[in-house]
Amino acid sequence: MAPFPKRRSSFITALFPFSIFVLFMFFQHAVIYTLLKTSVESTEGGLCACDKCVTDLSDDDWFFMRFNPSVPPLMNKRNSVLRTDVYRWWKDLQSESSQVNYTDVVDTLFSLFPDEEHYSDAGPDRCRTCAVVGNSGNLLGSHYGQLIDSHDFVIRINKGPTKGFENDVGSKTTHRILYPESAVDVDNSTHLVLLPFKITDMRWLISVFTTRHITSTYIRVRPTVNADRDKVMIIHPAFMKYIYDSWLEKHGKYPSTGFITLIFALHICDQVNVFGFGAKSDGQWHHYFDSSLTHFSGGVHGGGFENKTINELLLINKISVHKGW
Ligand code: C5P
Repeated sequence: MAPFPKRRSSFITALFPFSIFVLFMFFQHAVIYTLLKTSVESTEGGLCACDKCVTDLSDDDWFFMRFNPSVPPLMNKRNSVLRTDVYRWWKDLQSESSQVNYTDVVDTLFSLFPDEEHYSDAGPDRCRTCAVVGNSGNLLGSHYGQLIDSHDFVIRINKGPTKGFENDVGSKTTHRILYPESAVDVDNSTHLVLLPFKITDMRWLISVFTTRHITSTYIRVRPTVNADRDKVMIIHPAFMKYIYDSWLEKHGKYPSTGFITLIFALHICDQVNVFGFGAKSDGQWHHYFDSSLTHFSGGVHGGGFENKTINELLLINKISVHKGW
């Protein structure tokens, strides 16, 4: 004898997919989060060998709503094709008249510089500590030098020097993020990391290591820079747009170099400690090495929202921030 009468069993059969659908809708939120977190685990290797890891899963949804490990921070030839929306956004950042073909520029870039899959080595055996060193005047008198140098990676930004400031900012530099207008020489132990705001910035990098003919963009720029060609890296334009969309919710016109560097560190490091971030009480961005001042939320950057996001990262223990003295 059949356990159910025929009519009832076909009713149950019909109800089954419907219940699955309702259950799915009900738990949709949870499903999306679980998928995202699982993707973090599989793409980045999940937990690391440090006490506390950027990709620790026990933390909050705010972080995993923003952090997307599938966006490559650095370019190589295979990942260089840009989605139309990314290309359009990126081309609008610093309008330029040059009609150069992006694909040709990329081909030349990766015939000169390492065409690699950088930093895809996250996993349970790795504990990579990183110091992100901004250029704030709050570093003066901080005596952070030794602490900064104790990190595996010390990532500096733009012109921020070490010479003469070793006590406060350290002397080690594994990476320096720069663009043509902020370029300085780097030594052979440092990765020059280009932050390209426009195609001309990529052409400038090529020119620096070949013809040295590009001497100006919207201002005069250095035609030469001392750096090891085999250590050159290039931030991916799609990574810049991802930061703007996901982390800054489109505040300002585009993220500041410091904010991009901080999120870059979250993607390639297991622990991130931040130094040299913070304006004066009147909101001016001051430097530890010169007397220039810019207002942190004036111009193209959403400085207020960047600060709010950095504070949130601090609150949920994803970064530590050393505020100086
Ligand atoms: O001034 P510059 O852009 O070279 O500084 C690099 C980064 O350091 C900035 O993008 C900003 O994130 C950070 N900075 C800061 N407070 C300052 C100066 C710089 O947070 N007073």
